[in-house]
Amino acid sequence: MDKHLTVVAVDGPAGSGKSSVSREVAVALGLKYIDSGAIYRAITWFLIRRHGAITKGQDFSGDLNGVVITQEFNNDGSCNTFVDNTDVSVDIRTETIAKNIGKVSDDPGVREFVNGLLREWARNSSIIMDGRDIGTVVFPDADLKVYLDASVDVRAERRYNEYRESGKNVDLNSIKNQIIQRDVEDTSRPFGALKTAEDAVVIDTSSMSKEDVIQALINLIAPV
Ligand code: CDP
Repeated sequence: MDKHLTVVAVDGPAGSGKSSVSREVAVALGLKYIDSGAIYRAITWFLIRRHGAITKGQDFSGDLNGVVITQEFNNDGSCNTFVDNTDVSVDIRTETIAKNIGKVSDDPGVREFVNGLLREWARNSSIIMDGRDIGTVVFPDADLKVYLDASVDVRAERRYNEYRESGKNVDLNSIKNQIIQRDVEDTSRPFGALKTAEDAVVIDTSSMSKEDVIQALINLIAPV
């Protein structure tokens, strides 16, 4: 990788605020934001459409041959994800996708496919990328690694508010159970499991405002 380009890796569990914070840091500092979770979501969307329903341990090899996934980061901080030129950005933020995504992101072949895309997209720009294994697997040599965390209750409430703001009628308790379930899946998968990189800066955001977290990241990136 070109040495003057900067790579910032932001990992953490569901609802820790990685993506909303990372996109605003990207806008403030002129970095490109890459949403790795959106790619796993887009692949889940694609596989559900192809198979109707998907099961744990299902063989997805061959399914991704020729599928073109792209992502566009806009100056206003929005990020759009496309599957074969269809904009799936809205359709990938549903409970159905959240419930099924673990079956897809456990698959080593899918992970290899996604990691290839992520490294390719980072080749020509300074980037901030969020996910689960960005600092540990995708970019072990990142210039800065941040691990964002928060309590389960705070994360459930954030996710609940997000759904509500987008007009979805959801139940806080079921969102909380989903977050707990996603934590189990994310930390226990054999490849690309969520864990804190040894050299990551860990920030517990439970009692921080979004603005505080954004500022903390900007301060960390400044000397990089
Ligand atoms: O819901 P949240 O925004 O926290 O998650 P996301 O970043 O959209 O990621 C959704 C799911 O994709 C995770 O729960 C993981 O199963 C998977 N994922 C992954 O395995 N590796 C990544 N680098 C990013 C996401």
